Amino acid sequence: MKGKIILITGGTSGIGKETAQGLAMLGATVVITTRDAQRGEQTKQELIQATNNTNIDVLFCDLASFDSVRDCCREFLKKYPKLHVLINNAGIVDYHRRESKDGIENMFAVNYLAPFLMTNLLLDILKKSAPARIINLTSGLHSGTIHFNNLEFKHGFSGMKVYGHSKLAIILFTRLLAENLKGTGVSVNCVNPGMSATNLSRDAGWFSAKFFKLLAKEPSIGAQTPIYLACAPEIESITGEYFEKESVKKTNTETYDMDVAKKLWNVSKKYVGL
Ligand SMILES: NC(=O)c1ccc[n+]([C@@H]2O[C@H](COP(=O)([O-])OP(=O)(O)OC[C@H]3O[C@@H](n4cnc5c(N)ncnc54)[C@H](OP(=O)(O)O)[C@@H]3O)[C@@H](O)[C@H]2O)c1
Repeated sequence: MKGKIILITGGTSGIGKETAQGLAMLGATVVITTRDAQRGEQTKQELIQATNNTNIDVLFCDLASFDSVRDCCREFLKKYPKLHVLINNAGIVDYHRRESKDGIENMFAVNYLAPFLMTNLLLDILKKSAPARIINLTSGLHSGTIHFNNLEFKHGFSGMKVYGHSKLAIILFTRLLAENLKGTGVSVNCVNPGMSATNLSRDAGWFSAKFFKLLAKEPSIGAQTPIYLACAPEIESITGEYFEKESVKKTNTETYDMDVAKKLWNVSKKYVGL
């Protein structure tokens, strides 16, 4: 991966940090984002120490703010001439309904709208850097249908349901973006990393978070398929797919419905102001 420039959102913890470490080990220039400048700098130093790769950088980005996403992309474009791999990794599970800085239900905003915006703002540089790849972290908990009349769960909020809804949205985004990017040399796939012992369940309460961590695998195992998607030569031409354990898997019927995907895309554009 020497000479490749990779941007990973949420590199300060869990799967994102392990993915950053794995790709830095392979010689890539790795840029992580953080919502806490001090922790970002600390993570950068840890990654440099663990990999002996000094080409590691950190940019500030709070995905709960569209302004912050825009600033981060602007900063990236100022500093780097190319982007070969964008990994939309950062995500959150809220067990209580919260709103982002823009006043939007937080999981819809952070897990879906922020990567939708960031990807769109970075599409030109990805195309210029082709062959390039986009990797979206989703979850096996994606399910159901897009609730166009209740996208922000102003009623009927339940943490896991809303999390699954945001992860369904990112699969639909992946499939439609793959169609739109045909012929550009930029692929886009999504990945379910599997249950990993990270900080994702921090909002679940002490007992549930402990229980989750006991059942889950090491985050380094969760990072294996994202790393594979970032560098495996044999999947260069695969696009619009959902991966688990380094293989393409089928997802529920709604994730193949391009009319739903187009409707969601149009609503999303309005949300993020594109
Ligand atoms: N762990 C699992 O079992 C599992 C299963 C399926 C899918 N996933 C997906 O894998 C991805 C990585 O999650 P993880 O398990 O590694 O969880 P994690 O340890 O909590 O890491 C999440 C990362 O996202 C960042 N983040 C959260 N909210 C943010 C915001 N508003 N702005 C900027 N960054 C933000 C976190 O930053 P801080 O360090 O500042 O909190 C952290 O770096 C997520 O998309 C998650 O949905 C995880």
